[in-house]
Amino acid sequence: MKVLVTGGAGYIGSHTVLELLSKGHDVVVVDNFDNSKPESLRRVAERAGRSAVVHRVDVCDETSLTQVFAETRPDAVIHFAGLKAVGESSEVPQRYYWNNVAGTLVLLRAMESVDCHTLVFSSSATVYDPDRNQPPFHEDGLLGATNPYGKTKWFLEEILRDVSASDGRWQIGLLRYFNPVGAHPSGRIGEDPNGIPNNLLPFISQVAVGRLKELRVFGNDYDTPDGTGVRDYIHVVDLARGHLRALEYLERLNGEGICRVWNLGTGKGASVMEMIHSFERASGVDIPFAVVARRPGDQAVSFGDPTRAREELQWSAEYSVDSMCTDSWNWQSQNPNGYPD
Ligand code: NAD
Ligand code: UFG
Repeated sequence: MKVLVTGGAGYIGSHTVLELLSKGHDVVVVDNFDNSKPESLRRVAERAGRSAVVHRVDVCDETSLTQVFAETRPDAVIHFAGLKAVGESSEVPQRYYWNNVAGTLVLLRAMESVDCHTLVFSSSATVYDPDRNQPPFHEDGLLGATNPYGKTKWFLEEILRDVSASDGRWQIGLLRYFNPVGAHPSGRIGEDPNGIPNNLLPFISQVAVGRLKELRVFGNDYDTPDGTGVRDYIHVVDLARGHLRALEYLERLNGEGICRVWNLGTGKGASVMEMIHSFERASGVDIPFAVVARRPGDQAVSFGDPTRAREELQWSAEYSVDSMCTDSWNWQSQNPNGYPD
């Protein structure tokens, strides 16, 4: 299959491109490198022994994107391209709506221009309204979001459901990721956030490697076993494989229209303190931390029910929290400053 991957140079995209190439698929990447570097794809090619065709194009640029589709004529698209910083999305909401929502609308038009109607979209567990659902979150849970980033995912899910309902040619998979962490076990590809990381695991890794002084634990007075926040951490390689399973599922439908949601998570929660201890075991490095106030907008507990993905996609997470930490450390210690320019 020829798969066009938007945002394929990014964290989850690069791991997915490697899985696709390794399974013999042809891959076209469209990325504007707003939050990634070409080096990630060079290393993917080094591991896979073959390369993706890479286009430095913004998905909002309809003329260039349509040209890429006309030249490459993919069978399916995996759409990762998007901005993802929750805090920043409240400061510059228009940028988020433009990039994420308008970018996806442009992508749909470009796909239609070559009769390509198979799409796997990166959604997020953030679309489960925390006030109206109890973990484990199930795909049929009530949707809502409290910040512009989360709203782009929620609105795009609704848009894609409408598009699918209006035209039976569309085959759309909406993948709700829980908390992606870890890196390829080789240590050659991993997460390389710009600036100070917002997320727990990259922050811990950068403390371990000496780039940051100490971790701030956002609250230890939640109603959880040790008082710290609980999340469903999922190894990025498991997540990448979930995309291939979703594509294979859509392919088996033989042209039948569908818009289907799947959770991609382990179904188990781990607390901030558990993650710190696991990382310390993996790295042999003490992680200095200080407990500070809760981070506004954080929920106490989030984990998903992965039954549907297991039953329908024959996918389930294989990596443990300890291997997530081992692989994060492997990546961070080999690449203390991330990818070179
Ligand atoms: P990332 O920032 O590492 O990757 C996104 C890639 O898209 C980057 O390479 C970036 O340069 C590119 N990009 C952004 N806007 C673009 C545009 N307009 N045109 C072309 N390329 C563009 O992020 P990631 O962690 O790999 O996330 C991938 C997707 O998964 C995103 O849509 C994100 O919202 C979603 N997601 C991520 C998480 C997470 O915690 N990492 C959780 C849930 C959902
Ligand atoms: N945390 C800290 N200190 C930090 C960073 C995080 O204590 O420096 C805690 C948080 O309070 C939370 C846990 O670690 O309890 C995980 O926080 P992350 O920021 O890593 O992840 P979130 O669950 O807050 O958010 C992530 C993505 C969002 C996505 C959401 C649901 O960042 O984009 O998962 O998928 F929407």
